Amino acid sequence: MAYITCENLVLRYESLTVQKNLSFRVEKDDYLCIVGENGSGKSTLVKCLLGLKALDGGKMQFGDGLKRNEIGYLPQQSMIQRAFPASVEEVVLSGCLNGRAIHPFYTKAEKARAAEQMECLNITSLAKRCYRELSGGQQQRVLLARALCATKKLLLLDEPLTGLDPLVASELYSILQHIHDAHGIAVIMVTHDVECAVRHAKNILHIGRNESFFGSCADYEKSAVGRRFLGDSIQPEECSQCHDHGHAHPQKGAPENA
Ligand SMILES: Nc1ncnc2c1ncn2[C@@H]1O[C@H](COP(=O)(O)OP(=O)(O)OP(=O)(O)O)[C@@H](O)[C@H]1O
Ligand SMILES: [Mg+2]
Repeated sequence: MAYITCENLVLRYESLTVQKNLSFRVEKDDYLCIVGENGSGKSTLVKCLLGLKALDGGKMQFGDGLKRNEIGYLPQQSMIQRAFPASVEEVVLSGCLNGRAIHPFYTKAEKARAAEQMECLNITSLAKRCYRELSGGQQQRVLLARALCATKKLLLLDEPLTGLDPLVASELYSILQHIHDAHGIAVIMVTHDVECAVRHAKNILHIGRNESFFGSCADYEKSAVGRRFLGDSIQPEECSQCHDHGHAHPQKGAPENA
């Protein structure tokens, strides 16, 4: 059984049907990117995965040793969250609250875990700084460290690269790839950067208002919706976030065999 199996999901807000018949799977070693136009329901799906919103139809099952409260979550940021008045250390530590009863003090083990994640993301020197005074890239590292405190199994990231310059975004892609490869943590990432998504992910879930796709990156690139979203005109040098990764860009516009 997969970590997450979703069958014919229906997502709705009162009279607004955001998505229906949405089916996909997330395996233990997956790196899934969720793409699609603004307002198509990506963040709503994320809320359902976390249990913050009830489903309006369909089935969502957790398996292969994953429980819902073992997901490390990095939310889509609002300006209010960016101005959060807490220290870096406190923000990272708060990830440890995931899935446990609230008690007033963090344990030694939780503090050690937070320190380890800060070290891993190279933000130890920022530990006492106020979160709201950091740059966007530094804030994303802090939120990633926080999400890593919450999980050893699955990271769920809602647009973690928005507002970051290409070099910082590229750095975050590398960090994520390392976490995925070396620590065996599955990744689900919502992103608008479709070109980078197909280079880094194993699978793509495209949620459109009228059409959806779930499958491998190679199949997505051949699909009608994928071709439309990727466009045929993207040249390798335009994908600046892939500079450091040495990815070979397939020839866009090659004849499709789908
Ligand atoms: N709390 C809410 N109450 C009512 N409608 C909502 C609510 N949250 C989102 N919606 C609506 O549901 C639809 C999907 O929103 P959602 O935030 O999931 O989109 P998204 O794909 O994440 O978009 P974006 O790419 O802009 O982040 C939109 O039409 C939005 O207006
Ligand atoms: Mg969203």
